[in-house]
Amino acid sequence: MHIKSCAGLGALLLYATGTGACDRPYSAWMADSVIFGGQAVAPEGSSPSSSTYLQIGFFQAGVLRLIQYYRTLNTACAKTNWEDYLETSTNSIAPYLLNAIKDASYPLDRLSTGKGLIYQYRKSNVTVDLEGLHALRESINLQPRNALGGYWYFTYPNWSYLDGMYSLVPFLLSYTPQFNPDNVTVSQDVVHQLDLLWKHCYHQDSALLVHGYDASKTASWANPITGASPTVWGRSMGWYMMALVDALELSSSFPPSMSDYIHRRLEKLSKAVISAADNDTGCWWQVMDNPGREGNYIESSGSAMFTTALFRAARLGFLSGTLASEARSTAKKCYGYIVDSFVVENENGTLGYNGTVSVCSLNSSASYDYYVSQPILYDSLHGMAAFVQASLEQEMLKNSTDSV
Ligand SMILES: *[C@@H]1O[C@H](CO)[C@@H](O)[C@H](O)[C@H]1NC(C)=O
Ligand SMILES: *[C@@H]1O[C@H](CO)[C@@H](O)[C@H](O)[C@H]1NC(C)=O
Ligand SMILES: *[C@@H]1O[C@H](CO)[C@@H](O)[C@H](O)[C@H]1NC(C)=O
Ligand SMILES: *[C@@H]1O[C@H](CO)[C@@H](O)[C@H](O)[C@H]1NC(C)=O
Ligand SMILES: *[C@@H]1O[C@H](CO)[C@@H](O)[C@H](O)[C@H]1NC(C)=O
Ligand SMILES: *[C@@H]1O[C@H](CO)[C@@H](O)[C@H](O)[C@H]1NC(C)=O
Ligand SMILES: *[C@@H]1O[C@H](CO)[C@@H](O)[C@H](O)[C@H]1NC(C)=O
Ligand SMILES: *[C@@H]1O[C@H](CO)[C@@H](O)[C@H](O)[C@H]1NC(C)=O
Repeated sequence: MHIKSCAGLGALLLYATGTGACDRPYSAWMADSVIFGGQAVAPEGSSPSSSTYLQIGFFQAGVLRLIQYYRTLNTACAKTNWEDYLETSTNSIAPYLLNAIKDASYPLDRLSTGKGLIYQYRKSNVTVDLEGLHALRESINLQPRNALGGYWYFTYPNWSYLDGMYSLVPFLLSYTPQFNPDNVTVSQDVVHQLDLLWKHCYHQDSALLVHGYDASKTASWANPITGASPTVWGRSMGWYMMALVDALELSSSFPPSMSDYIHRRLEKLSKAVISAADNDTGCWWQVMDNPGREGNYIESSGSAMFTTALFRAARLGFLSGTLASEARSTAKKCYGYIVDSFVVENENGTLGYNGTVSVCSLNSSASYDYYVSQPILYDSLHGMAAFVQASLEQEMLKNSTDSV
């Protein structure tokens, strides 16, 4: 039902790589739409913005998963060349990443570009990719930390955000075994970061996590005891939850106590996220601790991230029994709503994606009103990239149930 035929859409021939009827799955269709539109490549001639790094890194991560699962463009009826895209987009950022001091002036989000760089380096052995990776790694040592050892997210003194974990955790856990295996404390550091955020951001009423905390408790919004910010923002929790799943996937070298710790957190968070799903749509609110409140709305990037994380956690066996089946059914319901309500089929044969909030920062009042008054974007890569991954998970599940 969620697969539409890609044949017969005339405009597609503009970027068709083959002819004939072919059922292109939504994951590939959205990825093609982003690539065909020239999104997810840094503009030439100037340093990318921090948001550009994150959006490219997140989208590349989805394309890498597509390649891993579908293997060939033909299997996925792809209409663009994903390998070419990865090369072009990596080339558009690698030369800007070579200085560790400059890298450290960007938010932790910069590290999301590591997956694509590692892939490209392994494939093409291009020196600039490797130098970019090393500089990114070096920049983590330059990242300031608060008194507890938690990395600052960005330039704001002593503030840590959930968001940064999506980029930091998989970067360290992929880079270290390949390029720096002598460092045996990295896994400890990773778990420490996840734990500090959990302990400081835990929101008693909802069992969810607020956006971030200020260890020095001086920010206007900081809780006087924990330093926590006041509200639960969907997308920031989406980043954190995807980081937990990635961490477990990459945790083979962890001592069992550490992987158990992450596992328990993922189970707990999954339960809370399942409970927070909206009763009607099955998806998640922009401000998750205020469902249904005036001004609040179902947000399309966070919803696709939770859909992805729940599907993936169940597929990889990190959730089991009833919790795994609840995770799958919850994710399926939201996925259906996303396709019906946010995915737009354009006349030129590409897909659009609606309902994604622009950036929300703690450099603000961090109030409910702030989060619900940020602009809602059409065709934001945060949402499109999240949809690529959510779709891929749905397709994998569908394929596995169809074939038993
Ligand atoms: C296809 O159409 C949509 C909607 O009009 C537009 O936003 C998009 O830029 C078009 N894509 C290309 C690659 O022309
Ligand atoms: C779908 O499942 C079948 C049967 O298990 C498998 O042979 C096929 O490779 C799967 N499809 C993809 C795209 O992996
Ligand atoms: C990769 O490049 C380096 C220097 O550019 C060269 O020394 C090395 O032999 C190359 N390795 C492969 C596998 O091509
Ligand atoms: C290992 O990596 C961590 C960062 O995760 C760093 O704090 C530590 O200094 C590194 N250790 C060595 C010996 O380089
Ligand atoms: C960070 O917090 C510590 C106390 O936890 C404080 O001493 C330090 O001045 C703060 N750093 C900045 C740059 O404000
Ligand atoms: C779902 O419905 C229950 C019972 O009416 C309500 O307490 C809960 O807040 C609703 N959940 C959401 C996320 O809207
Ligand atoms: C995106 O959503 C808004 C709000 O629901 C709606 O007004 C707008 O028409 C939608 N855009 C598209 C292209 O569907
Ligand atoms: C933080 O917010 C203030 C006030 O809006 C603004 O002047 C400043 O540029 C912001 N800082 C950053 C790094 O964006």
